[in-house]
Formats: sequence, C-alpha cells, structure tokens
Amino acid sequence: MKTILVTGGAGFIGSHFVRHILNTYEDYHVINFDKLTYAGNLENLRDVENNSRYEFVQGDIGNAELVDHVMKRVDYVTNFAAESHVDRSIMGAEDFMRSNALAVYTLLDSARHHNVERFLQVSTDEVYGSLADGEAPWTESSPLAPRNPYSVAKASGDMMAQSFAITYDMPVVITRASNNIGPFQYPEKRVPVFITNAIDDLSLPVYGDGSAVRDHLYVTDHCEAIDLVLHKGTVGEAYNVGGENEANGVDVVEKILDAMEKPRELIKYVTDRPGHDMKYSLNAAKTMDLGWKPKHDFESALRLTAEWYSANEDWWRKIKEGADYQAYYQRNYKNR
Ligand SMILES: NC(=O)c1ccc[n+]([C@@H]2O[C@H](COP(=O)([O-])OP(=O)(O)OC[C@H]3O[C@@H](n4cnc5c(N)ncnc54)[C@H](O)[C@@H]3O)[C@@H](O)[C@H]2O)c1
Repeated sequence: MKTILVTGGAGFIGSHFVRHILNTYEDYHVINFDKLTYAGNLENLRDVENNSRYEFVQGDIGNAELVDHVMKRVDYVTNFAAESHVDRSIMGAEDFMRSNALAVYTLLDSARHHNVERFLQVSTDEVYGSLADGEAPWTESSPLAPRNPYSVAKASGDMMAQSFAITYDMPVVITRASNNIGPFQYPEKRVPVFITNAIDDLSLPVYGDGSAVRDHLYVTDHCEAIDLVLHKGTVGEAYNVGGENEANGVDVVEKILDAMEKPRELIKYVTDRPGHDMKYSLNAAKTMDLGWKPKHDFESALRLTAEWYSANEDWWRKIKEGADYQAYYQRNYKNR
C-alpha cells in the first residue's frame, strides 16, 4: 500500500483528485491534509469519507510539527493547498504569502527529511504573467513573470520546489495548469459566479470589456494530468496542463447564457480587475508527450458544470448565503 498526501484535498481541485486516486488505485491510501479555510469544504468528499483507504487530517501546511508528524507515513506528496483567488489577493495578500510561498518551503523541507518518493507542486499558468496579442503560448521554459499578489506567491512556491530538485536532488515535479472548471468550485470564481447568478436571474459581472483571454480545463482532465506527471514525469521538470479551450470573458459569459437558455441582457460590464492579466495561453505538448490529452472540450465542460450547479443548489446556496461570501461579494463588486 502506498500513502499519498493530498494537501488542500477539501478544496475544489484537491477533492476531485482525492476521488480520482481512490477510484484509480486500489493500493493507495489517501491522507487529505487541509486547514479548512473558507474554501475548504468536507461536503465535497461525502461520497468517499467512509472509504477505509481515506483519512482526513485538519491542519495548516505551515505547521511544521504537524506536517512532520504526518509526513512520516507518506510516499507521495501532491500540494494543492493554497489561497487561490486573485481578487482576494488584491484585497490583502498576507495569507497568500504564508500558504502559497512560505508553507511550500515547510512542506518541501519535511518531505526531504522523510525521503518521500515524489513531491508534486500544483502550480498555475498565472506564474508566467500575461501575453501580448500575437505572442506564442508559454512553454515550460518561458520565464516566470507573475504580476498579481496571488501569482507572485504561487511563483515563489513553484521556484522553491524547483530549488529543492536542483539543490537537494529531491524528486520534485511541477504542474502549471490553466483555469479549471467543474463541480464543487467555490462560487466566487468566474464560471460558478456566472452559472449561479444566471440560475437566479441576477446580473453576470464581466470585468472590463470582457476581452481578457483564459484557457479552460475541465477539472477531471487536470486530475488525470497530475496523476500522470506524479508517476511518469521527469524529476526536476515542470509540465504545462492546458485544455486547448481559449476564450475571452465575452465568449465565456455568452456560452454560459446560451447553454442555460438565459437572456444576454443579464450581462453587466463592470470596472476591470486592477492589473488584469490580458491573456494566458499554454503549450501543453510536453504533458501530451507523456500520454495525456484533455477529454472535454469547452462546450461539454461548461454544460457538465452548469448541469451540476443546477442539480446541487443546496451546496452552493449555503455558501452564497454565508457571511464570508456576502462580505467578499459586496467588497469585490460594490464599486464596480
Ligand atoms: N482553480 C484553478 O483554476 C487553478 C488552476 C491552476 C492551478 N490551481 C492551483 O490548484 C490548487 C487548488 O486550487 P483550487 O481551485 O482547488 O483552490 P480552493 O481554494 O478551492 O482550495 C484550496 C484548499 O486548500 C486549503 N488550504 C488553503 N490554505 C491551506 C493551508 N495553509 N494549509 C492546508 N490547507 C490549506 C483550503 O482549505 C482549501 O480546501 C491551488 O494550489 C491553485 O493555486 C488552481
């Protein structure tokens, strides 16, 4: 039996990865290590919580003593734990620096002392910065040039992970994925804001003129890529994970409204995000060479996501009605 530590396993992508590992490998034991911040939600894992190969530990990856205690039993580490929302990082980035930068060091240091077989750092395309029109998609050797507090903190974690591979010969691999969409995404992120607002016939806030371009990846495709890189990736290397689903804000909002048969009049253009990165685009050939390919195109990913939010109103209404969400939404959108 192999033991895999999934940090941040109660969040959006981490919870899908926990489920993916339990369903894919009968000989893997999963430790979900999560602080349960506002974004952590054990309801994301109700279907696996009684699995005898699953275990939950509540804790902060920055807590060296607790991390070390758990790490004794671990063969593989996948680090999903992070503050993940750019707009919140613009309001204040202290937690981002602690969890996405400093605590990655804590986790790496413990994993090194316990000789783990593999450490996978879940990074993001945002570490590359922003592309100008006509520039080629980023490859893994493109320079890291992050431009907002979230991506700067993530780039720190990414580079610290690289440094452990170079300095200590530690078996580290890194994935850099584009915008994920799918079930269980906290409804502060763009796609679930659009879908849940559309269900309630509320306006759908599009930043600026809606021209910022993102690539989109269905969350289970991302989990399959992480699994592959963890087991087959070359030590010390980074792997881009892109869905080949580039779209700007206008495309995204219009596709969602069309899929949900809601009127375009619900679109509301609001003041742009400060320092908004205008374009992300990934060359994912290196990950594809390992044998990975996204299974979902943009339309099917959006449709599946919209169907899930429509069928699981209890999950997101509880969050949207909560004090944390209300305070965030008011603060982020009130002057836009
Ligand atoms: N969502 C995306 O589109 C996307 C794309 C590329 C990469 N990523 C990366 O994937 C990872 C997961 O993203 P997500 O969208 O699932 O985020 P999320 O916000 O939904 O989940 C983050 C989880 O981490 C936990 N957490 C936060 N700080 C912690 C700490 N100090 N110790 C332990 N647990 C902590 C939270 O409780 C939560 O369960 C992040 O590292 C993010 O940077 C996300």
